[in-house]
This record gives sequence, structure tokens and C-alpha cells, in this order.
Amino acid sequence: MKNELINTIIQSFKNTFKTKPIVVFSPGRINVIGEHTDYNDGFVFPAAIDKGIAAAIGKSENDFCTAVAYDLNESYEFTLDHVTPLKNGGWRNYVIGVVAEIQNYGKTVPPFNIVFGGNIPEGAGLSSSAALENSVVFSLNALFDLDLTKSEMILISQKAEHHFAGVKCGIMDQYASMFGKKNQALLLDCRTQEATPFTINFKDYQLLLINTNVKHDLSEAAYNDRRHVCEDVSKRLNVKALRDATAADLQNIKGDISEEDYQKALFVIQENNRALEAVEAMKANELEHLGALLYGSHDGLQNQYHVSCPELDFLVDFAKSNPSFIGARMMGGGFGGCTINIVKQSDLEDIKHTLLPLYNKAFRKDCSFYDVNLSEGTHLIEH
Ligand code: GLA
Repeated sequence: MKNELINTIIQSFKNTFKTKPIVVFSPGRINVIGEHTDYNDGFVFPAAIDKGIAAAIGKSENDFCTAVAYDLNESYEFTLDHVTPLKNGGWRNYVIGVVAEIQNYGKTVPPFNIVFGGNIPEGAGLSSSAALENSVVFSLNALFDLDLTKSEMILISQKAEHHFAGVKCGIMDQYASMFGKKNQALLLDCRTQEATPFTINFKDYQLLLINTNVKHDLSEAAYNDRRHVCEDVSKRLNVKALRDATAADLQNIKGDISEEDYQKALFVIQENNRALEAVEAMKANELEHLGALLYGSHDGLQNQYHVSCPELDFLVDFAKSNPSFIGARMMGGGFGGCTINIVKQSDLEDIKHTLLPLYNKAFRKDCSFYDVNLSEGTHLIEH
């Protein structure tokens, strides 16, 4: 499927621009545990997957750049002076956002043409935006020998998201997409941006993503709001980020903040601890313990951080009531997208069979199931 996608994008580029492109594949990501901890300088446990964005890029012969979103059958022409965010620009803002942030970093970007397409389901919360940003920065770096390191590239991608997409995201998505390793998840310290790779032994179990196939509108504003609350509480606690605070520290200022903000900050502190506990569980091969931490994470995201939604809660409640699951939680920013589940391999078909009609009855739409293969991060494709 990945090869098919890559070939399609190469062909489309050649047909349109009549030259041989440089080609990059940039993956989406999952996150085992550690949600909304990245912008609190905390720990996350993501991995790159085998679904992502393929981009083909080449130099332009004139002063214009052309970007083609193959899947949408849309294209956009632009010049490279005064690149600013577009109103309702959608995918265009990710492309020009990366260009602008490379320029802000002091590098010159000559005119180029790019065609990209992907196989990450839209709105699934698998970070297609980080995959796109990384594919653009990585391919421009290769095309024009910009001499950027991967660490510099992910900061450029993140800034594009902040300034052009308007989401004040942490570094998890861009990091996992860029630095992912085959068959491994990365315990990432978002403060130092150093990661330890882990192979998880799932025994008779496996990871399964279940997509709610919903994405509720309020997600971006709600995300930025929560980040703001965390920064505000950190200031009151006199720490750099919530990663530096304990539940006892928070208790000391409980009277000074609202109950909602207290619960949100408490969630972040607890979730950060859960991510670290998950690593210990994995080292000790205690899958059940890992599963319980996933349920705990969902509970906090639902009831303390308030970023879940009825569809996600339904899927997690189903998991809790079904012995084929040992853990489940919503994944990513929230308000839709996928749950991540640890399920018994042999029960996969049964699970699908039982869950599909129930979900359909409750929400009048289908949920979708994805197997997960942990894969390498953004890379060049020889062709
Ligand atoms: C989104 C953001 C990430 C992270 C997650 C929540 O995916 O892009 O930086 O904050 O939400 O963990």
C-alpha cells in the first residue's frame, strides 16, 4: 500500500513537471500513553506507523512554486516573498508555513514544485499534519542542501503548526514522525527532546486502533485553552512547566485556582507519572499493568481534562466490558479520532463483529479498525 502510494505520487509529479523528483515518505504516529504531557515538558510514548505522506519535490524553472495535494485534486501556486498564513488555507498553510519557518530560520528557499498524497485517514488523530510538515521540510532540505538537522527540522514543523495552523502543539507528533524506529516505540522526554526506543513484547496481544470517524469542531480552541491553563498553573506554582510539579505542590495552591483548572493540572501531573509507570510495566513484561494505565489515562482525559467525546467514551466502555481487551484509551488531542487498544490477537474478528453493529446503532455511523505497524521515521525514497 505504501509503495503504491509512492509510485502514484512519483508518476503524478513526472506527468505534471516532466522531471525526476526527490521523494520522501513521512509517517503518521500513534501514542501508547502520555497525552497532553508534551507541552508540559513531560514524557510521551509515541511511535511512527506505516501510514503517512509521500511527497515528490523538484526545482521550479521560474519564480513560482506549485504545490499539488494529489488526494484532493487541488493545487496552489505561490511566490516566496512575504509568505503569510492564508485564511481557511487548509493544507496550503502547512506547506507555506514550513517554507516561512525555514526562511525565518535564516535559510533561503529557492522556487520548487511539490506533489504530495497520503494514506492516513483524515481526522483520525494520527497526525497527518505533522507528517505533511515533516515531508515538506525534509524534502526541501534534501533538494536545496539546506544543512538542517532532524532536530532543527521538527522545530520548524512545529512552528509552522503554531503560526500557520494556529495550534500551539507540543513536539510529540513532529518528533515521532521524524525519528520513529521500526518495531519500536519511543519514550520521549519532551524537555530534553531525547528518546529511548523500546520494543514492547505484546505476547498474544496486539495494538488495535479504532476510529470513531468523528472530529468535533472545537478541538483547536480547546487545545490552546488547555495549554494556557497549564502554563498559568505552572506560573502560580513557580515552576517552568507542570512536569516539575507534584500533586502535593498543586494541593498547596488549590484554593487559588478553579476546581476545573485544578483537575486539569492534576491530570497532567498524573498522566506524566503514568507514562513513566508504563515504561516500568513494559520492562517487567506486565501487559495487564500497562493496560490498566491506559484505562486510567482515558478516565483522566474524559473526566479531568475534558477532551473526550461520547463516541470515544463508548469505545472505551465497550473495551472495559469485553475480556478480549486489556486496555484502551482515546489517543491524541481528543474530541474524536481513534482509541488505542491492547487486544487479544485471536479475538480480533470477534471484536469487530460485535462492536460494529453496536457502534452503528449508537451513532448511526461505522467505526473503523486499523492494525498498527511501528515504522521508521521520515526518510528519502530511492527510485
Ligand atoms: C496533539 C498535539 C500534540 C499533543 C497531543 C496530545 O496531537 O499535536 O503535540 O499535545 O495532541 O497529547
